[in-house]
Amino acid sequence: MKILIIGGGNMGSTFARSFIRSHAADSEKVMILEALAGKIEELKQAKIGRVFSDPGACVPEADIIILAVKPQASASLFDQIKSYVDEQQLVVSIMAGVKVETIRKGLGVSKIIRAMPNLPAQIGQGMTVYTSTDSVTRIELVMVQNLLNTTGKAIFVSDEAKIDAGTAISGSGPAYVFYFINALKQAAKEMGFSDSAAQLLVTQTFKGTAALFDQSDRSCQEWIDMVSSKGGTTEAAIRSFDKNKLKELIELGAEAALARAKALGLLG
Ligand SMILES: NC(=O)c1ccc[n+]([C@@H]2O[C@H](COP(=O)([O-])OP(=O)(O)OC[C@H]3O[C@@H](n4cnc5c(N)ncnc54)[C@H](OP(=O)(O)O)[C@@H]3O)[C@@H](O)[C@H]2O)c1
Repeated sequence: MKILIIGGGNMGSTFARSFIRSHAADSEKVMILEALAGKIEELKQAKIGRVFSDPGACVPEADIIILAVKPQASASLFDQIKSYVDEQQLVVSIMAGVKVETIRKGLGVSKIIRAMPNLPAQIGQGMTVYTSTDSVTRIELVMVQNLLNTTGKAIFVSDEAKIDAGTAISGSGPAYVFYFINALKQAAKEMGFSDSAAQLLVTQTFKGTAALFDQSDRSCQEWIDMVSSKGGTTEAAIRSFDKNKLKELIELGAEAALARAKALGLLG
């Protein structure tokens, strides 16, 4: 099975590296098509697959074509590769907001998987939501699930609208977590900790809490109740969060991301 990744940027190179590192694909079977001259040399040095600049030399060879260019580069990419693509090839797009229908029209193919990964894919801790057209066979779906799993975890959704919802939760989610980490770090500094001490206090608290939650059967509320003794410090903070409607504000933020994902999809 030959895999072609189009766009060797952040995500494209992360995918190539993950496939090879996890032995899901042999480096001889991974191809990267990249437009940027400077990046081509960098990719060759990285030894994460064969690197191409000419679509005609790699697109016809591929069994799976992964589209990893920026959404705004998609229309010109479709024009460049359409004549080399055939019906048997499976197209996997990770481009945010570019709909299955747009890809079908742009490339004239029917086997399409649309996936939304997130940033921690870079360290094998990503979360991907993906969907597929009916023409994709069960075996092909399993093959792609295996590839996506090399970058972290992946869940299948049958309804494409859920890709927008996934974008609003796990796609944009790392930025929400960074936002909260930053705010708590700021509070730590205002209480007199140095920048590095504040960073350690907050990141270790996040890491430890996420790992604890992941390894337990308790809900978040059960854990909050466990650490909030009556009249204690944690209860004071949670009361303040509730009074200031922090939970509602987070929900509103995620809804704003969903509205934006839908609007971008309409533009595509
Ligand atoms: N980064 C994330 O966390 C993340 C998360 C979810 C989804 N995504 C999606 O992943 C995709 C890639 O994102 P990224 O951050 O990896 O972008 P990126 O770093 O800009 O990488 C895209 C690369 O593709 C190249 N390219 C553009 N048009 C091309 C063409 N026709 N043929 C060959 N190569 C071409 C670009 O070159 P030029 O610079 O010359 O254009 C660039 O080097 C985007 O669609 C994004 O929505 C990213």
